[in-house]
Amino acid sequence: MRKIVIAGNWKMYKTQAEALEFLQGFLPQLTETPEDREVVLCAPFTALVSLSQNLHGSLVRLGAQNVHWESAGAYTGEIAPSMLTEIGVRYVIVGHSERRQYFGETDETVNLRLKAAQAAGLLPILCVGETKQQRDSGETEAIIFNQLEKDLKAVDQQNLVIAYEPIWAIGTGDTCESVEANRVIGLIRSRLTNPNVSIQYGGSVKPENIDEIMAQPEINGALVGGASLQPDSFARIVNFK
Ligand code: PGA
Repeated sequence: MRKIVIAGNWKMYKTQAEALEFLQGFLPQLTETPEDREVVLCAPFTALVSLSQNLHGSLVRLGAQNVHWESAGAYTGEIAPSMLTEIGVRYVIVGHSERRQYFGETDETVNLRLKAAQAAGLLPILCVGETKQQRDSGETEAIIFNQLEKDLKAVDQQNLVIAYEPIWAIGTGDTCESVEANRVIGLIRSRLTNPNVSIQYGGSVKPENIDEIMAQPEINGALVGGASLQPDSFARIVNFK
């Protein structure tokens, strides 16, 4: 059975106070949320402790946005897996296109981070996807297959979520057609050894398109940026019909 995972990626938004204010508006809207779905908030590191303390007893799981592969060491600015698990973090985004594009993340470091996250008991959400230029020149499949091959070397596919995030759809309002997202996600699945990996779609997911996206048979969830920042809009997304 593939688990449905709806994750908010807050990126570099929300102070600790703003994160707690979000919860006040968000949690009361989850009373009717079906238990077949996992709801995750991937918050900035500085908000994780407060969120963790305020999520007890709720069905919301906590996620981080990156993790280093060493357990400790002289790595200024990085966060070790045990620093996350200690405070109740369960999920971690790895290889987001913004990390790859702006911070020099490579398939090799993505692979190291995935394995370290799993070894610590975190559930990584691996992001893959093509640029507009790659799509226009017919390279979508080749790019994604190449990412999967390198990123997933020796990675445990029993403890993994993948997010298909076409880069041209992130933060642009330009959602990938749900049928096309379903097609690419089917192709991603065909390259996996575990057919039950949950695969999310990400890129301009909103209250207006979530029902259609989740109606697609291959799509098992969503990774949501901008629309996860407001309690009402993210609540409507996690309560998709
Ligand atoms: P978006 O971001 O929903 O704002 O397009 C998605 C993501 O970057 O994960």
